[in-house]
Amino acid sequence: MKPSHLDALADVIRVTDSGAIPERAALRAILDAPEDLDAPLFEAAGRALDRSSGRAVYLRGIVEFCNACRKDCLYCGVRRGNTRVARYAIPFDEIVEALEEGYRVGLRSFLLQSGEALGDAHLALVERVLRWMKARWGDSVRPVLSIGELPRETFRQLREAGGGRYLLRIETSDPELYARLHPQDAHHRFEARVQALHDLRDTGWQVGTGVLIGVPWQTPDHLAGDLLFMRRFDIDMCGMGPYIEHHDTPLWEAREQVPDVATRVRWTLRMIALQRLLLPDTNVSATTALQTIHPQGLELGLGAGANVFMPNLTPWKYRESYDLYEGKVRVADSLDSVLERMSARCAALGRPVALGDPGDPVRFRTRQPPP
Ligand code: 5AD
Repeated sequence: MKPSHLDALADVIRVTDSGAIPERAALRAILDAPEDLDAPLFEAAGRALDRSSGRAVYLRGIVEFCNACRKDCLYCGVRRGNTRVARYAIPFDEIVEALEEGYRVGLRSFLLQSGEALGDAHLALVERVLRWMKARWGDSVRPVLSIGELPRETFRQLREAGGGRYLLRIETSDPELYARLHPQDAHHRFEARVQALHDLRDTGWQVGTGVLIGVPWQTPDHLAGDLLFMRRFDIDMCGMGPYIEHHDTPLWEAREQVPDVATRVRWTLRMIALQRLLLPDTNVSATTALQTIHPQGLELGLGAGANVFMPNLTPWKYRESYDLYEGKVRVADSLDSVLERMSARCAALGRPVALGDPGDPVRFRTRQPPP
């Protein structure tokens, strides 16, 4: 008789092939399964990718342009309460210099990421960069924002200024776990975060979300729920990475509750593969956190069904202050040689890097407008 986790996998493949939504119990069984599940799971994810988005790997140049944050998330190194981190905001001229450098090497999608800051100067800077990109490169480039939970009106304004894609992780879709990972105040409400995702969708953005994997108290059942949350929301893009401890955060106290590295890697890869099965035509990234926690994180992520990664364009003098978690990979090398090396690693897997291509998710292009 076949072991039950292989039955669960066969079931999920059959259900997702027909476009339906699998049972939570089957997803949980897959996440929790012994190692012999991985090869058939990743093969199925690879087939789903081939049929939908294709084998190309898309790049996003990331500029971490400001680390000021009004949030105090218990896991994050740039939380407001961490007084040991030097705060910075990169001036406009240095941001566009970094973007120009990225364009020169063939990047056509740029992610502007920052802490959650509401000030006029901050938002004016984002708008100015968006308008500059539009004037400079028109439709050949896709800006992506990841600047936190903002009022709906601000989302609308930034969309009008030329923004197209937005990443806002739900972090976990379980309200109780969310409450254990965040302070209990008006700035950290689970419902507000879900509402922000709806506001982004309603104001015309391509919406990306994702979760932390391997945080204290999290179980495979939570992760199964996260997959269903993303499937039901019908997201366009997904970025999920392993949780990595940080000394200067309250969650450090709970480090005994963190699953070991091998478990976090396994869960992350299975989440990527299942996300690919549930929503085959989304863009899914092999995150920096995955590449930090495992030297072959890029290869493993792509092998599980990811099709995006994000070379860092943040000017060197700011990088060490964008310290979300410990050991964040910092390649002390020129952008040209980083790209050359990463492209060779992708090519070795038979996955060509799509330089010069903004890489829209097929899902967004084919999405029907709401009736
Ligand atoms: N480990 C891994 N990822 C983290 N993030 C924040 N802190 C950590 C950590 N300790 C992620 C969050 C956030 C993104 C910008 O960084 O998911 O959305």
